[in-house]
Amino acid sequence: MATLRHFLQFNDCSRAEIDYLFTRARWIKDRLRQGHYHHSLGGKTLAMIFEKSSTRTRVSFETGMGQLGGNVLCLSGNDLQLARGETIEDTARVMSRMVDIVMIRTFAQTMVETFAAHSRVPIINGLTNEYHPCQILADIYTFVEHRGPITGKTVVWIGDPNNVFYTWLQAADLLDFKVHLSSPAGYPVDETRITAGERARLETFADPLDAARDAALVTTDVWISMGFEAENERRRQAFQHWQVNAKLMKLAAADAVFMHCLPAHRGEEVTDEVIDGPQSLVWDEAENRMHAQKALLEFLLIGKV
Ligand code: CP
Ligand code: NVA
Repeated sequence: MATLRHFLQFNDCSRAEIDYLFTRARWIKDRLRQGHYHHSLGGKTLAMIFEKSSTRTRVSFETGMGQLGGNVLCLSGNDLQLARGETIEDTARVMSRMVDIVMIRTFAQTMVETFAAHSRVPIINGLTNEYHPCQILADIYTFVEHRGPITGKTVVWIGDPNNVFYTWLQAADLLDFKVHLSSPAGYPVDETRITAGERARLETFADPLDAARDAALVTTDVWISMGFEAENERRRQAFQHWQVNAKLMKLAAADAVFMHCLPAHRGEEVTDEVIDGPQSLVWDEAENRMHAQKALLEFLLIGKV
């Protein structure tokens, strides 16, 4: 029986554990490609709670858990008594008596933290307003797969400093790489949310073209994240020059890669030319969600194998 661990923020794992997860994900991916299935999680049940939409997170966790021999329950927020006022604490107490692990996609990070504090089983953050740790696990795994170690490299974030951005910054501190951020006036990084270590890895630029110079990895995300739809018009105006296009990619290193967590709003934060171009790793990045999360599910349920 593994000790109870959660994955609510990227730095809930140590650097050595992240390295282990990458090695294990590589093995899992290679074995699957050779047509071998291993049922390390036979008889275990993953419950997923979605209070926001999802394509990749749902499909990758559901398929991955099935491939490992486990069962999956997929629950929307409205399916649960949570929507009728049952507390998060009581929901966690009840669900964790029956299932072996829970993945939650929701609004406030405090919801997953509260759930974990009252759970007997591991909790995985499948995206909150604050963080998206499973995404960055897969993203860095993808970078390493194509370009080798990320330590010492520069990652450029163009646009909204959102949940995915703050998770990149946690990873930068843990794995020792640099983050360049360019965001419009009025959308700065929230200095109260970052540690001194994260601050030391971050450099901010008013002009997105300046941020991109010599980068190893250029990445961005939608201008309007889930839960921020009320700000649509104001954000569309503010972000219109924060686009990853061919001109910006030319300023990055010659072997730079482009990533996007997806879904993308083509023609807004990224052009078709870039997302469909030779530097783009977005489809590998999406696929690797499944391989990386299979390694994570095993790690949280049975420890290192
Ligand atoms: N990147 C990501 O988490 O995608 P979904 O919202 O489709 O799950
Ligand atoms: N920042 C986006 C990521 C979606 C996967 C959002 O929170 O909507």
